[in-house]
Parts: sequence; C-alpha cells; structure tokens
Amino acid sequence: MRKHRILITGASGLLGLSTALEAAKKHLVFGQVNSHRLNMDAFSTIQADLLLPGAIQRLLEDIQPDWVIHCAALANVDLCESDPQQALQMNSEVPRELAEYVARGGARLIHVSTDAVFDGQTGNYSEEDTPNPLGVYARSKLAGELAVAEANPQAIVARVNLFGWSISGKRSLAEFFFNNLSAGKPCMGFTDVYFCPVLANDLGIVFLKMLDASLSGLYHAVGNQCLSKYEFGVQIARRFGFDERLVIPTSVQDSGLKAARSPNLTLRTEKLVHALGESLPNCSNGLEKFYSQYQQGYPQQIRRLVV
Ligand SMILES: NC(=O)c1ccc[n+]([C@@H]2O[C@H](COP(=O)([O-])OP(=O)(O)OC[C@H]3O[C@@H](n4cnc5c(N)ncnc54)[C@H](OP(=O)(O)O)[C@@H]3O)[C@@H](O)[C@H]2O)c1
Repeated sequence: MRKHRILITGASGLLGLSTALEAAKKHLVFGQVNSHRLNMDAFSTIQADLLLPGAIQRLLEDIQPDWVIHCAALANVDLCESDPQQALQMNSEVPRELAEYVARGGARLIHVSTDAVFDGQTGNYSEEDTPNPLGVYARSKLAGELAVAEANPQAIVARVNLFGWSISGKRSLAEFFFNNLSAGKPCMGFTDVYFCPVLANDLGIVFLKMLDASLSGLYHAVGNQCLSKYEFGVQIARRFGFDERLVIPTSVQDSGLKAARSPNLTLRTEKLVHALGESLPNCSNGLEKFYSQYQQGYPQQIRRLVV
C-alpha cells in the first residue's frame, strides 16, 4: 500500500483515534479534534469545530488529503434525543458539506454510518434492505448517508458497529461491561438485542483496505460474528476473569432506556467480503486484542494523551 495523506475526523473519539493510530503505522495522518486536545507523536492533530461556517473547507485546503475517513459525529444516542437539531446538523449537514468539498478536490472519502439505521425487527440485513430508523440519532445518520451519496457518489458509506478503548473510558459497550465487572457491580446484558461488533482498531484497518481497493457506495462493515449483548458481556467477563454472574440477563423491554433501540441489528457483509476478497475480523479475536491492549496499558496510554 502506497503512503497516503489521510485526514481522519473525530480523532479524539473511539473510532477516530483507533483508526488514526492504525493508519499512522503506514501513512501520514492528520487527526481533527474538537473539544479535546491530544498530545500525539503518532500523528498531527488539528482543532476544528466542523459546525462553524467555513471550517470544513479550511480543513481540506490546509491538509490536501488523498483519503478522508469521517468519524466525527454526534454519536451519543441520548444527546441526539435531547437536541435533534444539532444531531441533524452534525450527522447530516456536516457529512453533506464534507462530501461536496471532497468530491471537488478528488480525494477518496469514507463516511461512517451505523447499523442502527434499521429497525431491528428481522436482522440479517443486506445493503439492499430498506432502513427504518427508530430514534433521532438513527434518523440523523440515515439522512447523512443519503446526503453523502447524493453529494459524492464516489464516496464509501460504511455502516458499522464497534467496541474498544476510548479516552473517556465510557464510550463503548465493552468498556461499560469492563467498568462494572471490574468494580464487582452487577450490570444488565440484553438477551434480545443482537449485533456484530468489531474492534475499533480492526475496523480502522478494514477502512484502509476499502480505500486502497477504490471502493465506492454503501457497505456493511461489521464483524463476522453476531451475538447478543448479554453474550458479549459474558465473553468479556470470561476473558478478563471477572464473575460472569454479574452480567444479569435482561430484556431490553425492561431496561427503561430513553431512546428506542433496534433489537436485531445483525448485518450481512458478503458485499464487502467479496469486494476485499477476504473475511472480516471477528469479535472473539477482537476481544483477545481488547484484552491484550488492556494488559499493555493501552487504556491509560490513550487517556494520558489528553492535554
Ligand atoms: N461507538 C459505537 O458503538 C458506534 C456504533 C455504530 C456507529 N458508530 C459511528 O461511528 C462513528 C464514530 O463514533 P464514536 O463512537 O467514535 O464517537 P465518539 O467517540 O463520540 O467521537 C465523536 C467524535 O466527533 C467529534 N465531534 C463531535 N462534535 C464535533 C464538532 N462539532 N466538530 C468536530 N468534531 C466533532 C468529537 O470530537 P471531541 O471529542 O474532540 O469534541 C469526537 O472526536 C460515528 O459516525 C458513529 O455514528 C459508532
């Protein structure tokens, strides 16, 4: 793979940071951050609030990237419910503008979307299936997909689900289980919510392969193993040696969550597997890596990056 100039937006977020650290092993990476400042050796960081007029154009003109991986988003489901206008701006208007400018400059773009564009009634969704988003976050993400595809048909739109270590220590479901189980606290594990999570670092590597293969259009980019959130919690308990009985099997109906959740978000990935000519990463291997990252002090290392 040739060395490219890569702009990664949302480089202080769970997916953006993991992707930037993977990409920086082979490429020249510029990571955009907003409210967080990172003291990085591996890649350059640039502060920009993408909601401010002119910010996207300035960023692209300054960096002149070959590839752009757009991870910045308003990705907190409850925040989106309480501020639908900001959700729409950040998750739809920003991607539209970014896609337009990228199209003019000739770079390749991956826009990150979510499995939650589906209502989760059947699961096993392909790229051909019709989305039916349930909440504000999911609706704003679907609007973003459509805006990107319209503004830049060459762009990749990748629907993902992921886990990993984040600088807040609270961003992913894996961290939720880790935080509770390591403190000896019981926590709910949904037995009737299914997904196909992939380690954020592994997903970042998949993105680089998708860009290198010059793909365009809509792809499901999730792990090749699907499981319930309860099973995921139990796997984490076992891998870290915590008491798995602390993961309480619970129905999502009894959870009292504010935003609507789709129960079965399993996605088919044949299109991407075929395009890349290889299988996608699986959750069990990802959990092994998640555990070895912990053993190597990765969660503390990334928290120390925050200035
Ligand atoms: N996490 C998941 O389980 C999951 C599942 C499916 C899909 N996704 C999708 O994956 C992508 C990444 O999610 P994530 O979990 O990594 O999100 P995250 O950890 O919440 O990170 C969000 C990033 O967006 C940046 N950002 C927010 N508002 C901004 C603004 N106005 N201007 C510039 N940057 C801004 C944040 O910067 P600061 O922190 O510096 O302010 C941060 O770097 C999103 O598109 C999300 O929809 C995530």
